[in-house]
Amino acid sequence: MAATVGHSKTESKPGLTTNRAQFIEDARVHGNLYIEQPYELYSAENHEAWRQLFARMGERWQRYANPRFLQGVETLCLDPSAVPRLEDVNKFMAPRTGFKAKAVSGYVPAFLFFDSLRKREFPTTITIRDSDRLDYLPEPDIFHDIAGHVPMHTDPAFADALARFGEVAQTAVQIVKKIKDPTEQVRRTTSIMKAMARFFWFTIEFGLMRAPDGKGVKAYGSGLLSSYGELQHSVESPMVQRYPLQLEWVINQYFEIDHYQPLLFIVDSFENLFEQVGVLEEWMKAGRLDNVSPGEPALSDVDVRSFIDASI
Ligand SMILES: [Fe+2]
Repeated sequence: MAATVGHSKTESKPGLTTNRAQFIEDARVHGNLYIEQPYELYSAENHEAWRQLFARMGERWQRYANPRFLQGVETLCLDPSAVPRLEDVNKFMAPRTGFKAKAVSGYVPAFLFFDSLRKREFPTTITIRDSDRLDYLPEPDIFHDIAGHVPMHTDPAFADALARFGEVAQTAVQIVKKIKDPTEQVRRTTSIMKAMARFFWFTIEFGLMRAPDGKGVKAYGSGLLSSYGELQHSVESPMVQRYPLQLEWVINQYFEIDHYQPLLFIVDSFENLFEQVGVLEEWMKAGRLDNVSPGEPALSDVDVRSFIDASI
């Protein structure tokens, strides 16, 4: 049983397991958000978790993933049997689109995260889930970030849309900094951020795209591409509503993160996605994101302040 690997007597490395990594705890205590990837700390159990996750996704990616994602997996030359080194990933990715995976010790406040995308840096979790909890993980891990997100970053059109989204976060900061009344400033910032978070969720994390042959849909969202169960569910299940992406709907649509998504949106192409990011920015400038529907996602004070206090 794979679940027993980590408890074997031969195991000596501390490991970089989700919620059980001393190295990460120490980095947080010292306030170090950006860190190195201490590759030698990965345990045999960590590599085994990667191997199992990667092995079972292969066939599902072939059936349900956007073709540019499949090309991305090839481009990155990911090792099926070991947790990847970020420097190796970057060697293959950076020459294509300029994007680089950058190791972080934990949660990146919202503006900092979006602004990293503008700079084509992708904050990347380096811990990996427990090998006996392969299916459900509320937190991101290196499998979600590297096997779910990063292959898409090798595609120039997708990469442009993602970096453009980062620019829109800057526009948001310029807008909210001009609001004089502090209460109104927090209220409008929260509304604009909700709209942005919803857009990000229904595209970058859970987006579907029309298949190239026009028949059906394929997944390009990382939350789908890193989930063995939900990837198939998202494309095939009659329990999922799938609609063409409509901005006025997306920005007002709340979502929950602890179960399969019942509603997904379809774009025609990454060029189409790029255009929609531009429309989002226009709507923001016109005040059309100032009063979006309340509800999820909830935003922390830290996230809201990260926009209001950003120095740009
Ligand atoms: Fe993600």
